[in-house]
Amino acid sequence: MWYVNDNENSIMKNATLHQLRVFVVAAKHLSFTKAAEELFLTQPTVSMQMKQLTKAVGLPLFEQIGKRLYLTQAGQTLYDSCQRIFNELGEFESAIADMKGLKQGQLNLSAVSTTKFFLPRMIGPFCQQYPGVELSLRFTNHEGILQYLNENQDDLYILSQLPSTVDVVSHRILENPLVAIAPAHHPLAKERNIPFERLSKEPFIMREPGSGTRQALEELFHKHETYPQVRLELGSNEAIKQAILGGLGISVLSQHTLTLEKDTGLFAILDVEDLPLQRNWYAIYPSGKQPSVVARAFLEYLEADPQLLKEAEELTIDG
Ligand code: PGA
Repeated sequence: MWYVNDNENSIMKNATLHQLRVFVVAAKHLSFTKAAEELFLTQPTVSMQMKQLTKAVGLPLFEQIGKRLYLTQAGQTLYDSCQRIFNELGEFESAIADMKGLKQGQLNLSAVSTTKFFLPRMIGPFCQQYPGVELSLRFTNHEGILQYLNENQDDLYILSQLPSTVDVVSHRILENPLVAIAPAHHPLAKERNIPFERLSKEPFIMREPGSGTRQALEELFHKHETYPQVRLELGSNEAIKQAILGGLGISVLSQHTLTLEKDTGLFAILDVEDLPLQRNWYAIYPSGKQPSVVARAFLEYLEADPQLLKEAEELTIDG
């Protein structure tokens, strides 16, 4: 028998799903300003929603100590419940979408930042084929993706380094070669078979901690028993490319980052021993998860279309 709690004092009688969504984002960032940015709302709207939710719950959800915002115990409990509620709702939505076939549905993808250079383009034909599918694609670094994966936030995750702590089902999409990049006029650009250790003598521009590229490079330098001379640490491939052009140093990045510079002659790919480092891009999901019809169609699309793969491979540049 169904039972609806219509007790006047029930929290859910007064709180709305929208308020809970706003709360989850505010709790994730521990900032109303950042929540407002992510949700395209104004900061006073977020504050108002949180005020009403706090009233519905009857206990403070956040506390401010100095300049920082923290979750109270009630806030943390609500956050944990919301994670479960939204996961359930996500599963419900995919079940309904499955019942309706591929005419409509939601596909939530998260991908490591380096895939920005090819993934949105690769997705284009899929969206044209299934215009009713709503797609959300967000980018963060490798560590961020692992967090989304642990929290079961998305349908599929696209990365290069397979996680070691979570069992996943993985589908290989493409190669991801890491290459040494310098400005075109760099003295090493003319040399051949440069010993790997030579890279340690150059000022090096490194991705931020948490980046998959950085992790792969640390392992590579470790294997060669040498260290890069890190002159600058930057949180984006685009910024690193600018810094290389600014003469601040060289770097090792995915060859996909040079997709649009293929014919510009701005950069040189150095001929270094042990490079390119051959890695792969994978689409993954946790082993226990049942991918929705839309997610399965997307995986098939990525795997099945040789033309698509050919085009994506061509987007990379020849050494
Ligand atoms: P990153 O990951 O964008 O976090 O560096 C890319 C990779 O693992 O190759």
